[in-house]
Amino acid sequence: MTPKPHARVYRGTARNLRLLAGKLRRGELVAVPSETVYGLAGNALVGQVCRKIFAAKGRPRTDPLIVHIHALAQLAQIAVPNADALTLAKKFWPGPLTLILPKTDLVPDEVTADQPSVAVRMPAHPLFRRLLKLCALPLAAPSANPFGYVSPTTALHVRDSMGHKIKHILDGGHATIGLESTIVDLRDPQRPRLLRPGPITRAQLERTLGRPLTVPPRKAKPQDQAQLAPGMLPRHYSPKARVVLHQKLAITETAPAATHTAWVFQKKPDGRTSKNVFWLDPKGNLKGVANRLFDQLRQLDAAGIRTIHIELAAGGGLAEAINDRLNRAAAK
Ligand code: TXA
Ligand code: MG
Repeated sequence: MTPKPHARVYRGTARNLRLLAGKLRRGELVAVPSETVYGLAGNALVGQVCRKIFAAKGRPRTDPLIVHIHALAQLAQIAVPNADALTLAKKFWPGPLTLILPKTDLVPDEVTADQPSVAVRMPAHPLFRRLLKLCALPLAAPSANPFGYVSPTTALHVRDSMGHKIKHILDGGHATIGLESTIVDLRDPQRPRLLRPGPITRAQLERTLGRPLTVPPRKAKPQDQAQLAPGMLPRHYSPKARVVLHQKLAITETAPAATHTAWVFQKKPDGRTSKNVFWLDPKGNLKGVANRLFDQLRQLDAAGIRTIHIELAAGGGLAEAINDRLNRAAAK
């Protein structure tokens, strides 16, 4: 039996925000809403606190954490920015973009998995921003899910899968974007690399930087992956159900009587649908699809579905991030 959740869910009142900021300052962990996915936050400057984050998630110590800041002035406290970093930060922060930069001595080794570089992001969610400002600390926060599982896009997702491991969850409603931030590696300013596609698209980044981004090979050796960007592990963001990917699904491929199988379309399919047929957005709008995807996967797990047939997104832009998550969810 899964242990009963004991986490408390807080509304974002001024009083609760002050209370939670105090807890963060005293080294406690708080699950926080962000515009991408919910994060599990703790003081990024204290190694002992960061260790609690790894323990709560069951996350290997080799998978580094993203540090969240409130203002650009905080960046130089934890990282050594270069010109490209400032260009991207000014254009896309606050927002769903994470930059990898050389770290300063203030950042403990736990945060970066002993690497000399750190991941930094300035989130846009108003409650997360107010909390960051009130506690006046950079906050390390990975997605608030057990390691390898689907990221949470609501406070209830966090409570359902982490509620027995943590005490405090700040409710900021449904994440407006619903997919994790784009990660760009800027350690070598000559060679910016796209480590994780996300809501800020490759085209937006390349236009702003004025040059192409390179992409590390998918099939890096396991030891390199652990070093580089473990969010890039082939299997990640995975529901319990087996995920089978399709370029295109047709309603004729579905079996109305199947009880443990679901079919998930990008948009509402033509023809007669049955109870195990779902769609991510009525018109297949990519923003809608991104926003709904993780919630849909969690719901199918909760319903006891064992096989999910799901259609890939078409086109570039946000489709690259959606298909990246789908490919990882389907990886063995
Ligand atoms: O949208 C997001 O990015 C959310 C919200 C909460 O901000 N956070 C998130 O964190 O998705 P997480 O822990 O699930 O993914 C962090 C990933 C790591 O798995 C790794 O791929 C990359 O960020 N990362 C962190 N630090 C790094 C570093 N020093 N070098 C390379 N990659 C790093
Ligand atoms: Mg994660």
